[in-house]
Amino acid sequence: MEGNTLKLASNQVLRIGVFILLAISSITSACNNSTNSNAQTKINDYSSNPPSNYDTPTTTPSNSTQTFKNYVKTSCNSTTYPSICYKTLSPYASKIEGDPMKLCNVSLSLALKAANKASSTISKILKSNNLTKIAKEVVQDCFGDVKDSIGELRDSLDAMGNLDGVDRSFQISNIKTWLSGSITNDQTCSDEFDEMNVDATLRDKIRKIVLDVARKTSNALYFVNHNLY
Ligand SMILES: *[C@@H]1O[C@H](CO)[C@@H](O)[C@H](O)[C@H]1NC(C)=O
Ligand SMILES: *[C@@H]1O[C@H](CO)[C@@H](O)[C@H](O)[C@H]1NC(C)=O
Ligand SMILES: *[C@@H]1O[C@H](CO)[C@@H](O)[C@H](O)[C@H]1NC(C)=O
Ligand SMILES: *[C@@H]1O[C@H](CO)[C@@H](O)[C@H](O)[C@H]1NC(C)=O
Ligand SMILES: *[C@@H]1O[C@H](CO)[C@@H](O)[C@H](O)[C@H]1NC(C)=O
Ligand SMILES: *[C@@H]1O[C@H](CO)[C@@H](O)[C@H](O)[C@H]1NC(C)=O
Repeated sequence: MEGNTLKLASNQVLRIGVFILLAISSITSACNNSTNSNAQTKINDYSSNPPSNYDTPTTTPSNSTQTFKNYVKTSCNSTTYPSICYKTLSPYASKIEGDPMKLCNVSLSLALKAANKASSTISKILKSNNLTKIAKEVVQDCFGDVKDSIGELRDSLDAMGNLDGVDRSFQISNIKTWLSGSITNDQTCSDEFDEMNVDATLRDKIRKIVLDVARKTSNALYFVNHNLY
Protein backbone atom coordinates (compact mmCIF):
# COMPACT_ATOMS: atom_id res chain seq x y z
CA MET A 1 0.00 0.00 0.00
CA GLU A 2 2.56 2.46 1.21
CA GLY A 3 4.91 1.53 -1.60
CA ASN A 4 2.16 2.07 -4.16
CA THR A 5 1.26 5.48 -2.77
CA LEU A 6 4.89 6.45 -2.83
CA LYS A 7 5.19 5.24 -6.43
CA LEU A 8 2.07 7.21 -7.35
CA ALA A 9 3.43 10.30 -5.63
CA SER A 10 6.79 10.03 -7.34
CA ASN A 11 5.04 9.55 -10.66
CA GLN A 12 3.14 12.73 -10.05
CA VAL A 13 6.33 14.57 -9.13
CA LEU A 14 7.89 13.29 -12.33
CA ARG A 15 4.90 14.42 -14.39
CA ILE A 16 4.89 17.84 -12.77
CA GLY A 17 8.62 18.07 -13.31
CA VAL A 18 8.28 17.25 -17.00
CA PHE A 19 5.45 19.73 -17.29
CA ILE A 20 7.56 22.47 -15.72
CA LEU A 21 10.48 21.65 -18.00
CA LEU A 22 8.21 21.83 -21.04
CA ALA A 23 6.76 25.09 -19.80
CA ILE A 24 10.21 26.57 -19.25
CA SER A 25 11.47 25.47 -22.64
CA SER A 26 8.45 26.92 -24.40
CA ILE A 27 8.89 30.17 -22.48
CA THR A 28 12.55 30.45 -23.39
CA SER A 29 11.91 29.62 -27.00
CA ALA A 30 9.07 32.12 -27.07
CA CYS A 31 11.49 34.70 -25.68
CA ASN A 32 14.12 33.79 -28.19
CA ASN A 33 11.62 34.30 -30.94
CA SER A 34 10.04 37.45 -29.59
CA THR A 35 11.20 40.83 -30.87
CA ASN A 36 10.90 42.23 -27.35
CA SER A 37 14.32 41.41 -25.99
CA ASN A 38 16.94 44.10 -26.46
CA ALA A 39 19.27 41.79 -28.36
CA GLN A 40 16.49 41.04 -30.84
CA THR A 41 15.31 44.62 -31.42
CA LYS A 42 18.71 45.57 -32.79
CA ILE A 43 18.36 42.88 -35.42
CA ASN A 44 16.42 43.53 -38.57
CA ASP A 45 12.97 42.03 -38.77
CA TYR A 46 13.87 39.52 -41.49
CA SER A 47 10.25 38.78 -42.30
CA SER A 48 9.58 42.38 -43.36
CA ASN A 49 12.95 43.25 -44.90
CA PRO A 50 14.35 41.92 -48.17
CA PRO A 51 17.54 39.83 -47.75
CA SER A 52 19.63 42.59 -49.37
CA ASN A 53 19.01 44.70 -46.28
CA TYR A 54 20.53 42.24 -43.84
CA ASP A 55 23.83 44.07 -43.55
CA THR A 56 22.54 47.65 -43.60
CA PRO A 57 21.38 48.89 -40.23
CA THR A 58 17.82 50.06 -40.64
CA THR A 59 16.43 53.24 -39.09
CA THR A 60 12.87 52.03 -39.57
CA PRO A 61 11.63 50.91 -36.15
CA SER A 62 10.24 47.41 -35.95
CA ASN A 63 6.80 46.81 -34.56
CA SER A 64 7.61 46.37 -30.91
CA THR A 65 6.77 48.18 -27.70
CA GLN A 66 10.39 48.09 -26.57
CA THR A 67 11.59 49.70 -29.80
CA PHE A 68 8.97 52.43 -29.42
CA LYS A 69 10.05 53.02 -25.83
CA ASN A 70 13.68 53.23 -26.92
CA TYR A 71 12.72 55.82 -29.52
CA VAL A 72 11.09 57.94 -26.79
CA LYS A 73 14.13 57.50 -24.56
CA THR A 74 16.60 58.53 -27.24
CA SER A 75 14.43 61.46 -28.31
CA CYS A 76 13.97 62.71 -24.75
CA ASN A 77 17.67 62.36 -23.98
CA SER A 78 18.60 65.61 -25.71
CA THR A 79 15.69 67.73 -24.47
CA THR A 80 16.17 70.25 -21.67
CA TYR A 81 14.23 68.12 -19.17
CA PRO A 82 14.97 64.51 -20.15
CA SER A 83 13.50 62.79 -17.10
CA ILE A 84 10.22 64.74 -17.18
CA CYS A 85 10.10 64.05 -20.90
CA TYR A 86 10.56 60.30 -20.57
CA LYS A 87 8.24 59.99 -17.58
CA THR A 88 5.48 61.86 -19.42
CA LEU A 89 5.88 60.36 -22.88
CA SER A 90 6.89 56.74 -22.31
CA PRO A 91 3.32 55.61 -21.43
CA TYR A 92 2.39 56.81 -24.94
CA ALA A 93 5.31 55.09 -26.70
CA SER A 94 3.11 52.73 -28.71
CA LYS A 95 0.90 55.64 -29.73
CA ILE A 96 3.95 57.61 -30.88
CA GLU A 97 5.18 54.56 -32.85
CA GLY A 98 8.62 56.04 -33.47
CA ASP A 99 7.04 58.74 -35.64
CA PRO A 100 8.60 62.23 -35.16
CA MET A 101 5.34 64.00 -36.09
CA LYS A 102 3.36 61.95 -33.60
CA LEU A 103 6.06 62.68 -31.03
CA CYS A 104 5.38 66.41 -31.57
CA ASN A 105 1.62 65.91 -31.36
CA VAL A 106 1.68 63.78 -28.23
CA SER A 107 4.13 66.04 -26.41
CA LEU A 108 2.01 69.07 -27.31
CA SER A 109 -1.15 67.32 -26.10
CA LEU A 110 0.51 66.42 -22.81
CA ALA A 111 1.71 70.00 -22.29
CA LEU A 112 -1.87 71.13 -22.95
CA LYS A 113 -3.18 68.56 -20.50
CA ALA A 114 -0.79 69.87 -17.81
CA ALA A 115 -1.85 73.44 -18.59
CA ASN A 116 -5.53 72.56 -18.25
CA LYS A 117 -4.80 70.93 -14.93
CA ALA A 118 -2.89 74.01 -13.74
CA SER A 119 -5.77 76.22 -14.82
CA SER A 120 -8.35 74.21 -12.89
CA THR A 121 -6.16 74.13 -9.77
CA ILE A 122 -5.66 77.89 -9.88
CA SER A 123 -9.34 78.45 -10.50
CA LYS A 124 -10.17 76.42 -7.38
CA ILE A 125 -7.68 78.45 -5.35
CA LEU A 126 -9.35 81.67 -6.51
CA LYS A 127 -12.77 80.30 -5.54
CA SER A 128 -11.59 79.32 -2.05
CA ASN A 129 -12.09 82.99 -1.12
CA ASN A 130 -9.50 83.05 1.65
CA LEU A 131 -6.82 84.98 -0.22
CA THR A 132 -5.46 88.34 0.85
CA LYS A 133 -6.14 91.21 -1.53
CA ILE A 134 -2.58 91.09 -2.86
CA ALA A 135 -2.58 87.31 -3.22
CA LYS A 136 -5.86 87.44 -5.07
CA GLU A 137 -4.48 89.95 -7.57
CA VAL A 138 -1.34 87.95 -8.17
CA VAL A 139 -3.20 84.66 -8.56
CA GLN A 140 -5.76 86.31 -10.83
CA ASP A 141 -2.96 87.60 -13.10
CA CYS A 142 -1.40 84.18 -13.05
CA PHE A 143 -4.69 82.61 -14.05
CA GLY A 144 -4.78 84.95 -17.06
CA ASP A 145 -1.22 83.95 -18.02
CA VAL A 146 -2.08 80.26 -17.87
CA LYS A 147 -5.24 80.82 -19.94
CA ASP A 148 -3.08 82.55 -22.57
CA SER A 149 -0.57 79.72 -22.54
CA ILE A 150 -3.44 77.25 -23.08
CA GLY A 151 -4.61 79.26 -26.09
CA GLU A 152 -1.14 79.13 -27.61
CA LEU A 153 -0.85 75.38 -27.06
CA ARG A 154 -4.26 74.85 -28.70
CA ASP A 155 -3.29 77.01 -31.68
CA SER A 156 -0.07 75.00 -32.02
CA LEU A 157 -1.92 71.68 -32.03
CA ASP A 158 -4.39 73.01 -34.60
CA ALA A 159 -1.50 74.11 -36.80
CA MET A 160 -0.04 70.60 -36.58
CA GLY A 161 -3.07 69.55 -38.60
CA ASN A 162 -2.35 72.18 -41.29
CA LEU A 163 1.14 71.19 -42.34
CA ASP A 164 0.12 69.75 -45.71
CA GLY A 165 -0.47 73.04 -47.48
CA VAL A 166 1.81 75.45 -49.32
CA ASP A 167 2.10 77.56 -46.14
CA ARG A 168 3.79 74.74 -44.23
CA SER A 169 6.84 76.78 -43.23
CA PHE A 170 4.59 79.66 -42.15
CA GLN A 171 2.63 77.26 -39.92
CA ILE A 172 5.82 75.81 -38.44
CA SER A 173 7.14 79.26 -37.70
CA ASN A 174 3.82 80.15 -36.01
CA ILE A 175 3.99 77.02 -33.86
CA LYS A 176 7.49 77.97 -32.69
CA THR A 177 6.36 81.51 -31.89
CA TRP A 178 3.28 80.33 -29.99
CA LEU A 179 5.18 77.77 -27.96
CA SER A 180 7.85 80.30 -26.93
CA GLY A 181 5.02 82.69 -26.01
CA SER A 182 3.33 79.95 -24.02
CA ILE A 183 6.51 79.29 -22.03
CA THR A 184 6.95 83.04 -21.43
CA ASN A 185 3.41 83.24 -20.05
CA ASP A 186 4.08 80.44 -17.58
CA GLN A 187 7.31 82.13 -16.58
CA THR A 188 5.47 85.45 -16.11
CA CYS A 189 3.00 83.79 -13.78
CA SER A 190 5.82 82.41 -11.69
CA ASP A 191 7.69 85.76 -11.68
CA GLU A 192 4.58 87.62 -10.56
CA PHE A 193 5.07 86.23 -7.08
CA ASP A 194 8.51 87.83 -6.78
CA GLU A 195 8.65 90.54 -4.14
CA MET A 196 4.94 90.18 -3.48
CA ASN A 197 3.76 89.44 0.01
CA VAL A 198 2.00 86.18 -0.76
CA ASP A 199 1.77 83.11 1.45
CA ALA A 200 4.81 80.96 0.62
CA THR A 201 2.89 77.69 0.55
CA LEU A 202 0.40 79.10 -1.94
CA ARG A 203 3.19 80.65 -4.02
CA ASP A 204 5.19 77.43 -4.15
CA LYS A 205 2.14 75.35 -5.01
CA ILE A 206 1.25 77.54 -7.99
CA ARG A 207 4.86 77.88 -9.15
CA LYS A 208 5.30 74.13 -9.08
CA ILE A 209 2.33 73.34 -11.32
CA VAL A 210 3.02 76.21 -13.71
CA LEU A 211 6.69 75.35 -14.06
CA ASP A 212 5.67 71.79 -14.86
CA VAL A 213 3.64 73.17 -17.77
CA ALA A 214 6.59 75.32 -18.89
CA ARG A 215 8.96 72.35 -18.86
CA LYS A 216 6.62 70.10 -20.80
CA THR A 217 6.04 72.89 -23.31
CA SER A 218 9.78 73.45 -23.58
CA ASN A 219 10.28 69.78 -24.43
CA ALA A 220 7.49 69.97 -27.04
CA LEU A 221 9.19 73.03 -28.55
CA TYR A 222 12.45 71.11 -28.70
CA PHE A 223 10.76 68.36 -30.73
CA VAL A 224 9.11 70.91 -33.02
CA ASN A 225 12.48 72.62 -33.57
CA HIS A 226 14.21 69.34 -34.37
CA ASN A 227 11.51 67.39 -36.19
CA LEU A 228 9.55 69.87 -38.29
CA TYR A 229 11.05 71.37 -41.43
C1 LIG B 1 17.18 30.45 -26.31
O1 LIG B 1 18.29 31.25 -26.04
C2 LIG B 1 19.10 30.74 -25.00
C3 LIG B 1 20.19 31.74 -24.70
O2 LIG B 1 20.30 32.70 -25.73
C4 LIG B 1 19.64 29.37 -25.41
O3 LIG B 1 20.42 28.85 -24.35
C5 LIG B 1 18.50 28.43 -25.71
O4 LIG B 1 19.00 27.21 -26.19
C6 LIG B 1 17.57 29.05 -26.74
N1 LIG B 1 16.39 28.21 -26.91
C7 LIG B 1 15.89 27.93 -28.10
C8 LIG B 1 14.68 27.06 -28.08
O5 LIG B 1 16.36 28.36 -29.14
C1 LIG C 1 10.49 30.01 -33.05
O1 LIG C 1 10.88 30.20 -34.38
C2 LIG C 1 11.02 29.02 -35.12
C3 LIG C 1 11.58 29.35 -36.50
O2 LIG C 1 11.22 30.64 -36.91
C4 LIG C 1 9.68 28.31 -35.19
O3 LIG C 1 9.79 27.07 -35.91
C5 LIG C 1 9.19 28.04 -33.78
O4 LIG C 1 7.86 27.47 -33.81
C6 LIG C 1 9.13 29.31 -32.99
N1 LIG C 1 8.78 29.03 -31.60
C7 LIG C 1 7.88 29.74 -30.95
C8 LIG C 1 7.63 29.35 -29.53
O5 LIG C 1 7.29 30.71 -31.44
C1 LIG D 1 1.89 45.93 -34.64
O1 LIG D 1 1.41 44.61 -34.68
C2 LIG D 1 0.12 44.41 -34.16
C3 LIG D 1 -0.22 42.93 -34.21
O2 LIG D 1 0.29 42.32 -35.37
C4 LIG D 1 -0.88 45.26 -34.96
O3 LIG D 1 -2.18 45.13 -34.41
C5 LIG D 1 -0.46 46.71 -34.90
O4 LIG D 1 -1.32 47.50 -35.69
C6 LIG D 1 0.97 46.87 -35.40
N1 LIG D 1 1.40 48.26 -35.26
C7 LIG D 1 2.17 48.87 -36.17
C8 LIG D 1 2.55 50.26 -35.86
O5 LIG D 1 2.55 48.33 -37.20
C1 LIG E 1 21.96 60.05 -23.61
O1 LIG E 1 22.99 61.01 -23.78
C2 LIG E 1 24.21 60.69 -23.15
C3 LIG E 1 25.18 61.83 -23.37
O2 LIG E 1 24.54 63.05 -23.34
C4 LIG E 1 24.74 59.38 -23.72
O3 LIG E 1 25.90 59.02 -23.04
C5 LIG E 1 23.69 58.30 -23.55
O4 LIG E 1 24.13 57.12 -24.18
C6 LIG E 1 22.38 58.72 -24.18
N1 LIG E 1 21.36 57.71 -23.92
C7 LIG E 1 20.47 57.34 -24.84
C8 LIG E 1 19.47 56.31 -24.42
O5 LIG E 1 20.46 57.80 -25.97
C1 LIG F 1 -7.59 78.43 1.82
O1 LIG F 1 -8.62 77.44 1.83
C2 LIG F 1 -8.23 76.19 1.33
C3 LIG F 1 -9.44 75.25 1.34
O2 LIG F 1 -10.61 75.94 1.02
C4 LIG F 1 -7.11 75.63 2.19
O3 LIG F 1 -6.68 74.39 1.67
C5 LIG F 1 -5.94 76.61 2.22
O4 LIG F 1 -4.94 76.14 3.08
C6 LIG F 1 -6.39 77.98 2.65
N1 LIG F 1 -5.27 78.89 2.48
C7 LIG F 1 -4.89 79.76 3.41
C8 LIG F 1 -3.73 80.65 3.05
O5 LIG F 1 -5.44 79.85 4.48
C1 LIG G 1 -1.28 65.85 -35.29
O1 LIG G 1 -2.46 66.42 -34.73
C2 LIG G 1 -3.30 67.10 -35.66
C3 LIG G 1 -4.47 67.67 -34.93
O2 LIG G 1 -4.07 68.50 -33.91
C4 LIG G 1 -3.76 66.11 -36.72
O3 LIG G 1 -4.54 66.79 -37.68
C5 LIG G 1 -2.55 65.48 -37.38
O4 LIG G 1 -2.97 64.51 -38.30
C6 LIG G 1 -1.66 64.83 -36.35
N1 LIG G 1 -0.46 64.32 -37.01
C7 LIG G 1 -0.03 63.06 -36.83
C8 LIG G 1 1.20 62.66 -37.56
O5 LIG G 1 -0.60 62.28 -36.09
